[in-house]
Amino acid sequence: GEAIALPDTRFSFAGFFGTYDRGSLQRGFQVYKEVCAACHAMRQLSYRNLLEIGLSEAQVRAIAASFQVVDGPNDQGEMFERPARLSDRFRRPFPNEAAARAANNGAYPPDLSVMTKARHNGAVYVHALLTGYQDPPAGFTLMDGMNYNAYFPGHQIAMPNVLNPGQVEYADRTESTVDQMARDVTTFLAWAAEPEAEQRRAMGIRIILFLIILGGLTYAVKRKVWADVK
Ligand code: HEM
Repeated sequence: GEAIALPDTRFSFAGFFGTYDRGSLQRGFQVYKEVCAACHAMRQLSYRNLLEIGLSEAQVRAIAASFQVVDGPNDQGEMFERPARLSDRFRRPFPNEAAARAANNGAYPPDLSVMTKARHNGAVYVHALLTGYQDPPAGFTLMDGMNYNAYFPGHQIAMPNVLNPGQVEYADRTESTVDQMARDVTTFLAWAAEPEAEQRRAMGIRIILFLIILGGLTYAVKRKVWADVK
């Protein structure tokens, strides 16, 4: 299909020295929880992973306990619901794909655990998608139940525009503009897909510093050893 030019959105986690902004991660989880989780699962994440974005154990336990998950079978062979624990995976919104499609006009809301790695230009694309809902241009025929999006391939997407100004009330009082919410949830999704990226970069930097020092020492030793040889 036609290549769609993406906006040049910059994120704190992009680049060699990039790190995830903790405030943005926590706000992004709030957006996921209050908006996206109605339709999208994130099965690779467990509630305990939220400890890594700087939430306290008490906060994460409370978040988990606010979700009912299915467990069992018990001694009577029955399945039952109970509040989620730290070790449980994020609750998924639909029990299976058929139920998800039935609730979404036949379309399937994909799992978002590794979405920023699954799409080309992942983070920039997801942010663009979330802010890319527009009126269709004149002459564009939109199929029933579909929405026009400037950045979705083909421009017809089954997902509605879910971010409107003030959609979430941020715990840290950041103003919830559409761009802010899109940035924050994209940051959260990028972290979910690559939580180890920061450590990997930090290790890379340490290795390069080590090699520079080792190179200097090697050179100094070489000069000393060969000093008397004329
Ligand atoms: C697809 C993100 C909320 C329903 C997608 C895709 C992404 C995404 C990245 C994949 C697009 C692609 O294939 O390239 C999000 C985020 C949300 C959110 C970050 C919260 C801010 C929702 C909600 C619903 C929904 C609340 C249901 C009301 C869907 C559906 C698709 C989809 C049905 C498949 C679209 C298609 O293939 O036509 N979403 N979504 N999403 N989403 Fe969402």
